[in-house]
Amino acid sequence: MTAPDHPAAPPAAAGFDDPSFGRLAALIYREAGIVLGPEKTSMMRARLTKRLAASGAPDLDAYLRLVDGGKRDDELANLVSALTTNVTHFFRESHHFDFLRQTVFSDPSLRGRLPRIWSAGCSSGQEPYSIAMTAQSCDARATITATDVDRQILARAERAIYADAEIGGVPLHLRAAAFDRVPEGWRIRPALRAMVSFQPLNLHAFWPFDGPFDAIFCRNVIIYFDPAAQMRLWSRFCTQLRPGGLLFIGHSERIPDTMRGVLRPVGHTIYRYLPS
Ligand SMILES: C[S@@+](CC[C@H](N)C(=O)[O-])C[C@H]1O[C@@H](n2cnc3c(N)ncnc32)[C@H](O)[C@@H]1O
Repeated sequence: MTAPDHPAAPPAAAGFDDPSFGRLAALIYREAGIVLGPEKTSMMRARLTKRLAASGAPDLDAYLRLVDGGKRDDELANLVSALTTNVTHFFRESHHFDFLRQTVFSDPSLRGRLPRIWSAGCSSGQEPYSIAMTAQSCDARATITATDVDRQILARAERAIYADAEIGGVPLHLRAAAFDRVPEGWRIRPALRAMVSFQPLNLHAFWPFDGPFDAIFCRNVIIYFDPAAQMRLWSRFCTQLRPGGLLFIGHSERIPDTMRGVLRPVGHTIYRYLPS
């Protein structure tokens, strides 16, 4: 994986009764910036059972030697995938999409060019496809870049097939234009899929983007990082927004007061980038 821009040892690696879990916490912090403290030991144990069995490692120490030696990047990616939390749903925090409809997709100054939107930490795709559905409902289109550190969840997002229970959040009047019936469930229609391009990206590593975004969605992702990493990311997002661009964050996340000069609140968990 690409080298991260944070220190190699998380404060949270200490305090584990079993030092192997401390090493595991240090590894996931190094690879994805995710802080897993001792209180997450049983979650880690449960999620690792399958990985140990699949890799043939007899115990956690042997598994860590396998993934941390640089020879099994495929298994390292599987480990990152096992330890990320991918909970998401369509139109999560629906007021964000109302705001998008009333601003970006109604902005006359954007006529003639497609809005560029980044869904950072997109999980299984419901967030970027909700953005695409919002654009379509305004007879608009957008160029949506959707990224995640978890390659397995990105593969699911690209497949774009969802079960009956998963499409519940999609407003009824949007469903017919959003999905095709397929044997495995409901597939996002081609016109919506065409708006979204997925790519693996670790938020703590290099960002390969050129040109600013009109809006960035980074919701319910930063909450897993330590305060210093969160602070760095809020600043880095500003470098990727055009002046006047929007930052949408998760319901339990918070922009520090020191940044309120450039990221001005314009709605609940919505900020406009206004550099002085
Ligand atoms: C809880 S989901 C949030 C999904 C969506 N943004 C939402 O709000 O519904 C968090 C996502 O962040 C991703 N993630 C965690 N660490 C990351 C990192 N360092 N870089 C990029 N994505 C990361 C996880 O893989 C996961 O898919």
